[in-house]
Amino acid sequence: MLSFGVYFCATLYLSSTISAVASERLRPTVGVIRWDAWNLFNGQYDAISYYLHRALSPEKFHYRIPFYASVLSPTNISFNGDMQTVMDNEILYAKHAGLDYWAFDTYCTFGPNCTTNNTYCSQYYKQTSNQYCPRNPAYGLNLYLSSTYQSLINFTLVLLGSSPCDIAFQENYLEHMKHPHFQTVLDGRPLLYLFQFDDAEANSCGGGWTGSKQVFQRFRQMAISRGIQNPYMVLMDFNVQTVQSHATMLGFDAISTYALPGGTQQGTPYVELLHSAQTWWESARQVGAKMVPLAPTGWDPRPRAENPVPWTDEGPEHYLQPSVEELQQLIRSGINFTCTYNQTAEAQTMIIYAWNECSETSGSLVPSLGNGTLYIDTLSKILPMYC
Ligand SMILES: *[C@@H]1O[C@H](CO)[C@@H](O)[C@H](O)[C@H]1NC(C)=O
Ligand SMILES: *[C@@H]1O[C@H](CO)[C@@H](O)[C@H](O)[C@H]1NC(C)=O
Ligand SMILES: *[C@@H]1O[C@H](CO)[C@@H](O)[C@H](O)[C@H]1NC(C)=O
Ligand SMILES: *[C@@H]1O[C@H](CO)[C@@H](O)[C@H](O)[C@H]1NC(C)=O
Ligand SMILES: *[C@@H]1O[C@H](CO)[C@@H](O)[C@H](O)[C@H]1NC(C)=O
Ligand SMILES: *[C@@H]1O[C@H](CO)[C@@H](O)[C@H](O)[C@H]1NC(C)=O
Ligand SMILES: *[C@@H]1O[C@H](CO)[C@@H](O)[C@H](O)[C@H]1NC(C)=O
Repeated sequence: MLSFGVYFCATLYLSSTISAVASERLRPTVGVIRWDAWNLFNGQYDAISYYLHRALSPEKFHYRIPFYASVLSPTNISFNGDMQTVMDNEILYAKHAGLDYWAFDTYCTFGPNCTTNNTYCSQYYKQTSNQYCPRNPAYGLNLYLSSTYQSLINFTLVLLGSSPCDIAFQENYLEHMKHPHFQTVLDGRPLLYLFQFDDAEANSCGGGWTGSKQVFQRFRQMAISRGIQNPYMVLMDFNVQTVQSHATMLGFDAISTYALPGGTQQGTPYVELLHSAQTWWESARQVGAKMVPLAPTGWDPRPRAENPVPWTDEGPEHYLQPSVEELQQLIRSGINFTCTYNQTAEAQTMIIYAWNECSETSGSLVPSLGNGTLYIDTLSKILPMYC
């Protein structure tokens, strides 16, 4: 009994000395962006997966392919992520890393030959992107929802373009938001991200920014009238001033960004990308924004520079891969910012780019041929992280 008492007092003393906050066990949640274009449709690569396959087929990029892909030859690979066993393993890996949620990129579903009857989807295909027309972009989300391991990780959506203004799409989000594993912030408000929403999308959505604000206000009301809390809506875009101004016009709750492109043709040391993220967070704070810090684990679209994809134009400029120490530094720094500036980062959540953007960054977290489980093992040593 005596020794127990001594130990108990020592523990109390230590925790109150090290940090008063730690004893309250405040813990920001950590999410990661998922881009699912690793699928077959009718036995062939789906429209976007076709370009991904082409971009990663040269031997020098094979190290990036995820654990479920194979090398067929020095100029060819194969993959099919649209399998329950693959998703089950991905969930177990993400859980091992200590991640709280995946943010699923949410695209329109197109018919054969890029057909669609939806004006918002048509606008996405022709204007927001060029020819982004997958047949089955929701395979990842569907496999996640049907997994027996589903409860190990939460989920949310990265909505894209103007289609989130469609009432039918909104009905679908509301169904997801009722799910017990839909990620929430601030005591139960469902968290939602929106990206690729600019002037053209605002025009398509509500005839401009003011009309679009009304569209999203109605969506909030729909959620509330169904017993879901007011969604916490985060607008993503690259430039702090622009995204803050657009978020204000839309009546959104906070800003973030999807990625931080940059670097040089020779490859810029990763630490510069970390600094670029820290600068972004600090600028957002300076303009008085509410913000979800983006933690970018890399940027290296050289596979797409060599074999271009139609929907975006990316050059050979890149950052070098983060080392294990640099990845930990990124996460520590992001959590520290989130805890220190809890007015700015009021939702107490952080979002990582990315889980599986393997043609756009060599820093993807998904276990890969070249780096195995290095990155998720690294995260597992520091997550969950408390304030
Ligand atoms: C890659 O391999 C598959 C399966 O053998 C084959 O059908 C396809 O034509 C190959 N692609 C290239 C570009 O060599
Ligand atoms: C568009 O509508 C037509 C007529 O209702 C239907 O046959 C077709 O399958 C629809 N196309 C898509 C891509 O939904
Ligand atoms: C798609 O377009 C091609 C080329 O124009 C055409 O041959 C084919 O019939 C079209 N497929 C469908 C399902 O409309
Ligand atoms: C998922 O979110 C719910 C509600 O926000 C939370 O209670 C739960 O702990 C979360 N689960 C995981 C695996 O993070
Ligand atoms: C945490 O962030 C604050 C504010 O930016 C900074 O002063 C402090 O040095 C950071 N601490 C660590 C351990 O990075
Ligand atoms: C924000 O941080 C301050 C200082 O650590 C703390 O007193 C306060 O409770 C925090 N607020 C929230 C909402 O976490
Ligand atoms: C990842 O794998 C590649 C290819 O084997 C290697 O060059 C690189 O150093 C590895 N990255 C890390 C962070 O170990």
